[in-house]
Amino acid sequence: MISFCTATSDDLPEVLALLEVAQLPLAGVKEHLQNFILALDSDRIIGCAGLEIHEDAGLLRSVAVDEAYRLHGLGEKLTRGILELAQHQGLSSLSLLTTTAQNYFPRFGFVPIEPSQLPRSLNDSEELSGACPDTAVGMTLRL
Ligand SMILES: CC(C)(COP(=O)(O)OP(=O)(O)OC[C@H]1O[C@@H](n2cnc3c(N)ncnc32)[C@H](O)[C@@H]1OP(=O)(O)O)[C@@H](O)C(=O)NCCC(=O)NCCS
Repeated sequence: MISFCTATSDDLPEVLALLEVAQLPLAGVKEHLQNFILALDSDRIIGCAGLEIHEDAGLLRSVAVDEAYRLHGLGEKLTRGILELAQHQGLSSLSLLTTTAQNYFPRFGFVPIEPSQLPRSLNDSEELSGACPDTAVGMTLRL
């Protein structure tokens, strides 16, 4: 039985473990965990997606689904959950960096953007300023 919920500080170790297996950055997760959505199978975390808020710009990060649960729409539900959260927060854009999924996010309306063109306030993000490799592709969506 799959369910969805918002993360609490107790979830940090399990979220970090999931991201580590998915080879995604861990920096900044703790600081933004209150804006993470989790997918659970009973009480086991099998997916997550996070939102960093920097002024009126959002960063979608840490979209990961346990390998055994992929291709069943969980990544989509988690991503759409963060989109709703970003809209609810009145953000003007949602951006992301990825080295692995630049062909996944266009289905939600994200378009490629030069990393130098990302909103300036996102420079405060640890993920953006170093935790993500230089080869990452930038993508953005106007809300
Ligand atoms: C990317 C990821 C979150 C997708 O989760 P998922 O639950 O398997 O995806 P969904 O079931 O919502 O979507 C499946 C569709 O996306 C496509 N897809 C899945 N991963 C993809 C990727 N990395 N690149 C391009 N397309 C991808 C599938 O082929 C499938 O396509 P279809 O609808 O045409 O059949 C998951 O593969 C994952 O955890 N990857 C490792 C971490 C990662 O790269 N995260 C993204 C960077 S933040």
